[in-house]
Amino acid sequence: MNYLLGIDLGTSGTKTVLFDETGLGIASATIEYPLYQPKNGWAEQDPEDWWNAARDTTRKVIAESGVNPADIKGVGISGQMHGLVLLDDEGNVLRKSILWCDGRTQAECDEITETIGKDRLIEITANPALTGFTAGKILWVRKNEPDVYAKAAHILLPKDYVRYKLTGEYGCEMSDASGTNLLDVPARCWSSEILEKLSIDEKLMPPLFESSDAAGKITAEAAAATGLAEGTVVAAGAGDNAAAAVGTGVVVEGRAFTTIGTSGVVFAHSDSVQIDPAGRVHTFCAAVPGAYTVMSCTLSAGLSLKWFRDTFCKAEIQAAAEMGVDPYILLNQEAEKSPIGSNRLIFMPYLMGERSPLLDSNARGCFFGLSAIHGRRDMLRAVMEGVMMSQRQNLDVLRGMNVAPQTMLACGGGGTSPFWRQMMADMFDMPVATVANREGPALGAAILAGVACGVYKDIPTACDAVIKQNPSQEPIKENGAAYEKYYQLYTKLYPSMKDCFAELAQME
Ligand code: XUL
Repeated sequence: MNYLLGIDLGTSGTKTVLFDETGLGIASATIEYPLYQPKNGWAEQDPEDWWNAARDTTRKVIAESGVNPADIKGVGISGQMHGLVLLDDEGNVLRKSILWCDGRTQAECDEITETIGKDRLIEITANPALTGFTAGKILWVRKNEPDVYAKAAHILLPKDYVRYKLTGEYGCEMSDASGTNLLDVPARCWSSEILEKLSIDEKLMPPLFESSDAAGKITAEAAAATGLAEGTVVAAGAGDNAAAAVGTGVVVEGRAFTTIGTSGVVFAHSDSVQIDPAGRVHTFCAAVPGAYTVMSCTLSAGLSLKWFRDTFCKAEIQAAAEMGVDPYILLNQEAEKSPIGSNRLIFMPYLMGERSPLLDSNARGCFFGLSAIHGRRDMLRAVMEGVMMSQRQNLDVLRGMNVAPQTMLACGGGGTSPFWRQMMADMFDMPVATVANREGPALGAAILAGVACGVYKDIPTACDAVIKQNPSQEPIKENGAAYEKYYQLYTKLYPSMKDCFAELAQME
């Protein structure tokens, strides 16, 4: 039997899963790492933590599975997108990575828009300059840490750093490169025009691959560190959402998924380039060669619930530990005791500012309508509803672009909650299913590895063979109508508070 390894470099941790060639998960390991927030709205991680986690989880799954490393034919990596990794000419990390959810670069984004011109930028990169994307972070380091920038010889994205540690080769691929503001998305190559106008030396940018290309082989050093066999093929891999699309079979038109992970994503496949002229959602290259995707990104989806859990639910965390269950199960049970609308309480999930559809790094979270009547269960339900209203608002943008999905899959940690999924079905007014194998991005990465090493013919064929769908949850009309009134009010809240958020951001 052939085996394939999928490494998913997430924001809360790295999860590595070993699959057999039928897509069955054989062994899995996760290692968490810290998120540094040196200032309000900033977010960084240490690339060494990512490598240590990838290395140690790989060792662990190989040991636990008892599989002969020579039977692991390919390795694939999926990863959190947009983070800036700067290396010197010997491949050493120069500073902590500035992440996708970091909002410090508004001034640099304004500079990019002014230098390139808004329309030309969207024409080339299919997206406006966004604080989450990589180009603004490059300009920020150049301006604020010139000594660091002077030493930079290589610019990489998070998962590409881990691939570099595995193979000794620098590289990037289309899906992740799409989120840099530096890729010519329709032409699938670095944009010399943008690099030149922003004075970023093209030599800093790594060679580009398609996601299912072989982008290197495990070196002797990496083999000794991970337990993999030297010479094993490593696929270029994909950004986490593009990889999740492969791992859930969202590789043909009409299919879509909604992820509630740390971030929230509504993601649809498209065979052609579809661009929102207002830039509220992203158009990226798909992991499928030649294809595209349209997706939104809510910065604090699962993060909102995690924040609430860690800040206000110590008792549930302790009770869950004693019962040996996941604390989120207890939180779900508590939230379910509050009615639709959370007793007239609305949560705006803008804890890290907001990307889609607001594009406002000054926005912040809010409980609207808080009264002395409210208890923790109402606040919990409001957090879950607020996250879902944000997803609905993004689905409405996609629907407005005629990227109207016919099927919706729920993914990510939040997607495992039947309660949250029903909320999704009711608010989206469409059936919501899950796939049998919940490993989304890790499975997607393993499928890409399988194509790269020749175990599978191509991505759609592999998905047809490997991915099985569970029965759908149907929307309940009365629930949908009850949510609709709250959703309509939710959409009015941000516009009426926009200026106040800007004022708040100026406070010392
Ligand atoms: C996508 C985005 C996030 C990250 C982290 O644009 O910023 O989904 O990839 O998961």
